[in-house]
Amino acid sequence: MEIKPLLLSFFFLLLLDASKAQMPGFVSFDCGGKENFTDEIGLEWTPDIKLIYGETAGISVTNETRKQYQTLRHFPADSRKYCYTLNVISRSRYLLRATFLYGNFDNNNVYPKFDISLGATYWSTIVISDASTIEVRELIFLALSPTISVCLSNATTGQPFISTLELRQFNGSIYYTDFEELYYLSVSARINFGADSEAPVRYPDDPFDRIWDSDSLKKANYLVDVAAGTEKVSTRKPIYVNSKEVPPQKVMQTAVEGTNGSLTYRLNLDGFPGFGWAVTYFAEIEDLGPDETRKFRLVLPGNADLSKPAVNIEENAQGKYRLYEPGFTNLSLPFVLSFRFGKTSDSKRGPLLNAMEINKYLEKNDGSLDGASIAKIVSYYSSSNWAQEGGDPCLPVPWSWVQCNSDPQPKIVKITLSGKNLTGNIPSDFAKLTGLVELWLDNNSLSGPIPDFTGCIDLKIIHLENNQLTGELPSSLMNLPNLRELYVQNNMLSGTMPSGLLNKNLILNYSGNINLRKGSKSGSHMNIIIGSSVGAGVLLIATITSCLFLSKGKKRYFEQDQLDHSPPVQRLVSSKSKAHTEAAYCFTFSEIEDSTRKFEKKIGSGGFGVVYYGKMKDGKEIAVKVLTSNSFQGKREFSNEVTLLSRIHHRNLVQFLGYSQEGERCMLVYEFMHNGTLKEHLYGHKSINWFKRLQIAEDAAKGIEYLHTGCVPAIIHRDLKSSNILLDKHMRAKVSDFGLSKLAVDGASHVSSIVRGTVGYLDPEYYISQQLTDKSDVYSFGVILLELISGHEAISNESFGVNCRNIVQWAKLHIESGDIQGIIDPSLHEEFDIQSIWKIAEKALMCVQPHGHMRPSISEVLKEIQDAITIEREAAGAAREGNSDVSRTSIHSSLNQGSMDLGGTDNCLSFDESIARPAAR
Ligand SMILES: *[C@@H]1O[C@H](CO)[C@@H](O)[C@H](O)[C@H]1NC(C)=O
Ligand SMILES: *[C@@H]1O[C@H](CO)[C@@H](O)[C@H](O)[C@H]1NC(C)=O
Ligand SMILES: *[C@@H]1O[C@H](CO)[C@@H](O)[C@H](O)[C@H]1NC(C)=O
Ligand SMILES: *[C@@H]1O[C@H](CO)[C@@H](O)[C@H](O)[C@H]1NC(C)=O
Ligand SMILES: *[C@@H]1O[C@H](CO)[C@@H](O)[C@H](O)[C@H]1NC(C)=O
Ligand SMILES: *[C@@H]1O[C@H](CO)[C@@H](O)[C@H](O)[C@H]1NC(C)=O
Ligand SMILES: *[C@@H]1O[C@H](CO)[C@@H](O)[C@H](O)[C@H]1NC(C)=O
Repeated sequence: MEIKPLLLSFFFLLLLDASKAQMPGFVSFDCGGKENFTDEIGLEWTPDIKLIYGETAGISVTNETRKQYQTLRHFPADSRKYCYTLNVISRSRYLLRATFLYGNFDNNNVYPKFDISLGATYWSTIVISDASTIEVRELIFLALSPTISVCLSNATTGQPFISTLELRQFNGSIYYTDFEELYYLSVSARINFGADSEAPVRYPDDPFDRIWDSDSLKKANYLVDVAAGTEKVSTRKPIYVNSKEVPPQKVMQTAVEGTNGSLTYRLNLDGFPGFGWAVTYFAEIEDLGPDETRKFRLVLPGNADLSKPAVNIEENAQGKYRLYEPGFTNLSLPFVLSFRFGKTSDSKRGPLLNAMEINKYLEKNDGSLDGASIAKIVSYYSSSNWAQEGGDPCLPVPWSWVQCNSDPQPKIVKITLSGKNLTGNIPSDFAKLTGLVELWLDNNSLSGPIPDFTGCIDLKIIHLENNQLTGELPSSLMNLPNLRELYVQNNMLSGTMPSGLLNKNLILNYSGNINLRKGSKSGSHMNIIIGSSVGAGVLLIATITSCLFLSKGKKRYFEQDQLDHSPPVQRLVSSKSKAHTEAAYCFTFSEIEDSTRKFEKKIGSGGFGVVYYGKMKDGKEIAVKVLTSNSFQGKREFSNEVTLLSRIHHRNLVQFLGYSQEGERCMLVYEFMHNGTLKEHLYGHKSINWFKRLQIAEDAAKGIEYLHTGCVPAIIHRDLKSSNILLDKHMRAKVSDFGLSKLAVDGASHVSSIVRGTVGYLDPEYYISQQLTDKSDVYSFGVILLELISGHEAISNESFGVNCRNIVQWAKLHIESGDIQGIIDPSLHEEFDIQSIWKIAEKALMCVQPHGHMRPSISEVLKEIQDAITIEREAAGAAREGNSDVSRTSIHSSLNQGSMDLGGTDNCLSFDESIARPAAR
């Protein structure tokens, strides 16, 4: 360490208000807390009272007794960011940990979702899915400046909040990587194998307070597929661990052994696929007989090279009870990682594993180019609230008084500090913000001269009025080619007005500056000069006349205005009077009769009518839906649908061509979709591959997204199902049947008297509450995704076991226990990348959450589908190049021994089934 001890202690004083007993270099903020305290493991906590933003709240979660989890700090659900600024020692490595325990602090049960960033770098999205589970995020970083900012932003649902913020300083070369100036390490897995309990190992066993998860911790898809013959081993002897990452002794004293020759595990790696840093920790903790050996290899599917070197712990570590720590500094890892350690043929004993750690490289964002200049400005006003927003001025979202452009490394384009009680000179650092377009410093108490803004060539609008500025109006202002508005009135400026300013295409106000003279003439207090490229004299006349015209001609102008607008107004009225038929094409009945050859070919029957094939004279193929007659319901749907359909155009929605009415018979005419319904393809004989299914899902999601977000007011489909997704010639999908669509009342949810929908797809929350929201469609879409994965119908008497008839409960049970293979459609023939199936499966489960607010928006689902498509494309590309791909290797699911029971059927309540029947049609 190059820092002198004296300097070091000085930093510590600054750094932590707590610093005595515990490890130096620890900061533990109890967010929302009120007092200092030391917890049962010896960590000293301080309240985050210095933060001027947010509010504190107390929570109470069953069985959570730790004081730091009795409080939290929450922030408004707005578009701002809220930052903690922490002091660090530059060029030191740290572990940063943020934890979140929701505890229903807002008595609202709206599970929050928001982002966390370190400075300008997006770190993670915090998604709360359970009120009493602590979400933990950890990041390892090398400090390059004396402070860091941890910011919460982008409140997607609920209010952002935080429970604790912890900083742990490393020493020596722990977690050194060659890339540390460019990347952070986001902790994905840190596992203590053979742990004697579910409790993690941390401080004081780990002097750096890393949290080592127990391998017996039960989490969805976490350490499943454990090989038969896996046994725990442990020792009480000390282990020599003082090298590299220095894992705690307690972690190294336990291990798992593959007594039958193999250790296998599978787990989800948060944040992956991507490049990561992965290390395994071994120590020989068993006494092997004189003729016994232990040699094994790591097998990572698709990474043949990695499997070559054999591990012989004792030899590699140069002794028993000593650490051997092989690893990979940059390894491409999938989201679902399966790995195996297998003994070599000449080895007597099976493989041993004590611990492992996997971190993802997170590329740093350098942040705004103006970061340094604006930091200086802010430092002059450090006691003002506006100067304490912290973090990067532009990223991930800009400060409240700043606007930035959208470059990858953004520049500040607008500063709004009007009426902020600024004093002293205008900091010259403003002039270093070279991207500045607008500067608002009016209504402050700024004094001194106006700085030279020559460097800010984009400056367009400058507001400096109502200050106490002195000196001359700098002639350098004339060098600003884009300057359009300059307000300097009511200051104490003096001298002569630079003549160039009067000749420019410029709005200029300099009144109220007693000593400021215009040119050589006497100090006239001209108010506004609206400029043009012509000379000043002509200009003045033009201004006056246009003003006269405006005031005198006001009335006439108004009338003119009305006259001009009358045609649209009339059109509006007439469209209202003609009601729903506006813009929808009306087919004559004989046209319909001819084209369908008197309704000869029936191609389907929907909820309230039969669909016939037709071919128009011009060859265009159509589908004619004849609504069931004598049905008031049907007629209402009809007018509903005609109005809606004539407004809606999207390539992923079945095109509505027109309507026809003949007596009581109402007909809707659509484009004909050559390949029928998705349902026929899934359960008929024409099997479709996974990639095609993803494309269909993407198409359908786009159509629904348009209904939800592209239409005003939003449209809720209400009856999404696989038989309502139609396929065209090219097997691209379109959503059909808006008969049940209802206009969603702006923002609020809609109360309807009759619950509509189809058994198996019906949102249970909607059924109970009758509150219709777009999330009801998301639920139905989740069911469709599960159908796409499994090839099973939403409701079935045979498929799901004895007491289970419902795809949601069945799939949930499998997915949550990590058994994805158990639900994959066998007709997909393993021609898929398991990563993409996982992605869709997990999103589908989110979609069918019991409560709407816990479900994602259709746009989020769409993004996930597109990510899955990317994964498939890349996998296909890799396969073409002849690489054997990591994830394409199928995982032959052997259920996790003992920890799960998938046989039981009482878990599977047929929820929809039991309650939805009355509404079924
Ligand atoms: C907490 O402890 C620090 C020193 O460790 C002290 O400066 C601070 O005033 C204490 N805060 C409270 C609220 O007692
Ligand atoms: C709380 O702890 C008690 C005792 O360990 C246990 O029986 C109970 O199930 C726990 N409750 C919850 C909600 O975890
Ligand atoms: C906020 O998150 C949403 C989705 O979660 C994303 O679409 C949006 O771009 C994010 N906004 C910002 C400013 O990061
Ligand atoms: C690093 O910290 C550990 C734990 O406090 C200590 O034992 C060790 O001596 C330190 N090493 C260096 C190089 O400072
Ligand atoms: C271990 O392997 C042997 C032989 O292959 C087998 O008989 C035995 O059942 C296995 N043990 C376990 C626990 O699976
Ligand atoms: C890891 O390797 C890949 C390709 O080999 C490279 O693109 C990437 O930048 C590397 N990551 C780091 C953190 O160096
Ligand atoms: C403006 O600043 C002065 C001195 O810094 C302070 O006394 C005054 O209270 C401030 N006024 C407002 C409105 O913030």
